Amino acid sequence: MRRYEDALWKKEMTLIYDFSNLMDSFIDASAQDPGFRKSVGAISEDDLNAMMPRISKARESLSRKWGRPSRMLAWTRLPHSQKTVVADILRTAARVRRKFDNFVVLGIGGSALGPIAVHEALGHPFYNLVSREERGGGPRLFIEDNVDPERMNALLTMLDPARTCFNVVTKSGNTSETMSQFLIARDMLRGAVGDRWRHHVIATTDKKKGNLIRIAQEDSLKTFVIPDGVGGRFSELSPVGLLPAAVCGIDIEELLSGAAWMDELCAREDIRTNPGWMSGALMALTMTRKGKNIQVMMPYSDSLKTVSDWYAQLWAESLGKKYTQRGRVIHAGQTPVKALGVTDQHSQVQLYTEGPFDKVITLLGVGAFRSDVAIPEGYPHIPDLHFLSGHTMGELMNAERMATEFALTKAGKLNQTITLPEINAFTIGQLLYFFEVQTAVAGELIGIDAFDQPGVEEGKISTFALLGRPGFEQKRAEIAARPAKNRRYMIGF
Ligand code: PA5
Repeated sequence: MRRYEDALWKKEMTLIYDFSNLMDSFIDASAQDPGFRKSVGAISEDDLNAMMPRISKARESLSRKWGRPSRMLAWTRLPHSQKTVVADILRTAARVRRKFDNFVVLGIGGSALGPIAVHEALGHPFYNLVSREERGGGPRLFIEDNVDPERMNALLTMLDPARTCFNVVTKSGNTSETMSQFLIARDMLRGAVGDRWRHHVIATTDKKKGNLIRIAQEDSLKTFVIPDGVGGRFSELSPVGLLPAAVCGIDIEELLSGAAWMDELCAREDIRTNPGWMSGALMALTMTRKGKNIQVMMPYSDSLKTVSDWYAQLWAESLGKKYTQRGRVIHAGQTPVKALGVTDQHSQVQLYTEGPFDKVITLLGVGAFRSDVAIPEGYPHIPDLHFLSGHTMGELMNAERMATEFALTKAGKLNQTITLPEINAFTIGQLLYFFEVQTAVAGELIGIDAFDQPGVEEGKISTFALLGRPGFEQKRAEIAARPAKNRRYMIGF
C-alpha cells in the first residue's frame, strides 16, 4: 500500500488553512490610530454572511464549467485522469536517468515556474552540487526560463551535449524565448551528435497547435501533450511539471494524489470547511471591499521559496484584468509580493508591520522539518546568548514565524497562515492545487476571466513584430509610429 492510501496518514498530512487573523475578532482594531483615515479592513462575520449568496451563485456557475476544456478548467481533471500519461512519463524518466548526466528544461512562465517550485521543494537543497548517488541517481537539472545570452553561453559551455537531454516546453509552441532556446540547443546537439540529436530532445506542447508540435512530428521527437483546457500557469500537474520531477526522482504519483485529496476537500458543500472556496472568497473580499491591493507570500522554509514565484504568476496573470467577463472596465488584481521568512524579517517586515494597511500577508509554515539542526551549548556565562542553546534551528524558524504573525496581528495587519505538516510530494500537491482553486474562485467572484492573459499576448506579439515575423507587419508599423523619446527626459552619464 502506498502511504497516501492510508487514511490516517492522509489526515495527518492535510494542510491547515488558518484565516483567523483576517477576521475582526482577532485583528487589533485599536491599531487603527484615532483620527487616521485608513481602515484596518478586517473581515467580519457579517461581511462573510453578506457574501454567501454571491458565493453560491459563483459555485453554481463554476461547477457547471468544472473540468471543461472549453472553459479552461481541464486542470481540475489532472489529479485524476493521467494514468497512461504517468506510466509513459515514468518510463521516459527512467530512460533519461540511465542515459544522461544533464536534463535541461527550456520554457518560460507556466512552463518553468512550476517545475522550479516542485524541484526546490522536494529535491536536495544543493541538488546539482551533490554526488549522483546523493541525488538519488538523477541527472543534474537546469531550468532555463530566460533568454539572457550570458547565462545561456555559460550553460552551454558547461554541458557535454552527448550527455544532455533537453525538454522543450511550450503550450503555444510559438513562444519566441523558448523556440530560440530550442534552435540553439538543437544546433549544439547536431554539431556534437549529428542526426542523433532527436534522441536528446523531448517536446512538451499542445497536441495540434503551434510550431513545436509540427517540428516534433517532422523530426519524430518524443512528445508529451499539454491537454486542451490547461493553461500555462495551471499546467504544473500535467507533463509540464511531471516529467522534470520524475526525472529527478520525485514521486509524481504522490504529488498527484495530494492534489486529488485537495480536490476532494475543495468539493465540500459547506464553504466554511472548504479551504479553496473559503480562501478564494476571503481574498476576493480583501481586494474588492477592504482595499488590500497587495498580497505578500512569505514561506518560512527555503524549500518553499520558489513556490512564491510560481504563485506570483498564478495570482498576477490570472486576476490582473482590465475587463469583467461582461466587458465592464474594472482594472482588477492584487499585486503579489515575494518574501522569505525569516530572511525578510530583517528587510521587508518593518514595512508590513508599520506601513500602509494595503496588504494581506500569507505565511507558509512547516510543522516538522525533514531534518533539524540542534543549537549547541556554549557561553553559559552570557545568558542573552545561552538561551538559544538546547533549541533547534527548526524551533527558531517556527518561533520567528509565530512572532511575525503576532506582531502583524497586533499592528492590525491582515495575515493568514497555511501550514504544511511536513514538506513531501503529497503536501506539495495539495498546496499547488489549493492555490489553483483559490485563484479560480477569486476570479469568478470578481467577475473576470482568470484563464486568459491578453496583457502577456500583447508583449509576445510585439516581440514577433520587432524581430520581423511574417504576418506582424501592422504591429511593427504601430510600434514604429510611437512617439519619439524626448532627450529632455533622458539623462546621460
Ligand atoms: O500562463 C500562461 O499561459 C503563460 O504565462 C505561459 O505559461 C507563458 O507565456 C509561456 O507560454 P508557452 O507555454 O505557450 O510558451
